[in-house]
Amino acid sequence: MSYLVLARKCRPQRFDEVIGQDHVTRTLANAIKMDRVAHSFLFSGVRGVGKTSMARILAKSLNCSQGPTVDPCGECASCRAVTAGTAMDVIEIDGASNNSVDDIRDLRETVPYRPALGRFKIYVIDEVHMLSTSAFNALLKTLEEPPPHVKFIFATTEPHKIPATILSRCQHYDFRRIPTEAIVERMGQILEDEGIRAQDGALAIIGREAEGSMRDALSILDQVLAAGAEEITVQAVGDLLGVVSRQVHFDLSAALIEGDPMRCLEIIRDVNRQGFAMSVFSRDLLEHLRNLMAAGICGDDRSLLDMPDTEIDDLVRQARSVSRGTLHRLFKHFSEAYEEIARSSHPRILLEATLARLADLGELVSAAELLSRIEDLAAGRPVPPGPRGGNRSGGKQETVSSPVQKTTQASNAAPMNEADWKDLLTDFGRDMPAKSSIIERGVPAKGSSNELLMLQFDREDVFAAKRARETDFIRALTDFLTRRAGHPVRVDIQVCDLGSRSTLAKERLEKQEALRLRQDEAREHPVVREAQIAFGGSVSRVRLSDNGKGGTGKTPDMEQGE
Ligand SMILES: Nc1ncnc2c1ncn2[C@@H]1O[C@H](COP(=O)(O)OP(=O)(O)OP(=O)(O)O)[C@@H](O)[C@H]1O
Ligand SMILES: [Mg+2]
Ligand SMILES: [Zn+2]
Repeated sequence: MSYLVLARKCRPQRFDEVIGQDHVTRTLANAIKMDRVAHSFLFSGVRGVGKTSMARILAKSLNCSQGPTVDPCGECASCRAVTAGTAMDVIEIDGASNNSVDDIRDLRETVPYRPALGRFKIYVIDEVHMLSTSAFNALLKTLEEPPPHVKFIFATTEPHKIPATILSRCQHYDFRRIPTEAIVERMGQILEDEGIRAQDGALAIIGREAEGSMRDALSILDQVLAAGAEEITVQAVGDLLGVVSRQVHFDLSAALIEGDPMRCLEIIRDVNRQGFAMSVFSRDLLEHLRNLMAAGICGDDRSLLDMPDTEIDDLVRQARSVSRGTLHRLFKHFSEAYEEIARSSHPRILLEATLARLADLGELVSAAELLSRIEDLAAGRPVPPGPRGGNRSGGKQETVSSPVQKTTQASNAAPMNEADWKDLLTDFGRDMPAKSSIIERGVPAKGSSNELLMLQFDREDVFAAKRARETDFIRALTDFLTRRAGHPVRVDIQVCDLGSRSTLAKERLEKQEALRLRQDEAREHPVVREAQIAFGGSVSRVRLSDNGKGGTGKTPDMEQGE
């Protein structure tokens, strides 16, 4: 098979063979049935969506010896001539090369003569927006009073360039981009007729690249076929188009969601090794993240996702493994970085940096979700450690940044025991004395490991629970654990009813805790810090003034050390 064969070979010959333009076929068919066909039409739309094909079908319908009919016979002399492109009464003019006023005057002179064979003389002017202003004016006269045996069909990819005077005299049909899924399906049929197999996903790549143009899809398909393979493979199509398989994007978004920057870099390295352009790859990744976000929103309503069903299934599955807020955030951050990546002369470096940063953002839970998890805990309902898909409360997506662990634990994670916990506390105390009073109030939950620390706080232990949930603390703890372990460790703070301590002991503890917290605050107070820098000293003791209980208490007494 040679190049460009398919697009010509597979031109739709009947209204019901035109895909993706139902709104046009329906209206035209109605007009024909009711014998109310306008005398001039404007077909607009991007390249290769069926404008010329539709014009010819309309011409055939109007001039069929059995017609006018929505169902032209295809057998009569007129039908056959239109199909072959030799019909005397269907005059196709390329507006781009016949755009002068003289060209239009020549055309006008032929208008009064009756059709040779059919009922109508049908002028099809392609690329009509290319006509000069005077040519348009010359055309206008004819459009104002066309003889009853004449029809005009104008086609254009740029309807905004057509003068309003012309527009107002035409019935305007806007042709849509053809849904990717319909394109893929049509390619599938064509290949089946040709007896050629195609790998799952191979046609989807072509469909995606075609961006709604059936002609583009078919010409890509032609090029793939020109290689003469028995089967159309994902690899062959990917190589031809310079795009990677969808699976790579899925792997990458999984790595982002799981917070695995290493994996992100590995994937980029592989894509780069295979010689794919980083700018194209980034563009497709952006689209993939957009689709994930859309899948998170639409779920089972697939009409907003323009792609084959199997791909939607994968998208929905991945989107459900993560909160919507995270999907929004991933898309937002990446789209912001994308412009820069696309423009950069070092796209790979920027892409890597962006992905590593995104992966480190971790799973971000919406406030609504967090709240419902806390409520679940308070009510004693079992709560899985991770966030759940979707926004359960349906509330506003007001988000707090709070990294949470994976929903599933890696199999090689070592569970945490009592001794591990003690060591951890000691190290933490050395590293971050100011925050150790918080962590000490927590209890590692069952299921904690060297990759995941689930720290539970008693709901009644208000101070600690509050501070433990602050981003600042979670981040510090996550950083500390990751540094200490040499691999990513996640932290999940849970506030629940531990209820183990007696009220009295709790009260005492609380008082002590309040005191310690205030001392810590004092140590970390910016004024104190500045003073330390200015005087080159260190804080040896913090004394809280007695009225500190209800007062500001923020300015501590400080004794200068050595
Ligand atoms: N809606 C469609 N349904 C089925 N096939 C289509 C459709 N649109 C385009 N094709 C395929 O693409 C080929 C070119 O289509 P057509 O010439 O009708 O597009 P067009 O909109 O006129 O494009 P252009 O603006 O480039 O002239 C057709 O021969 C057919 O194989
Ligand atoms: Mg055309
Ligand atoms: Zn016919």
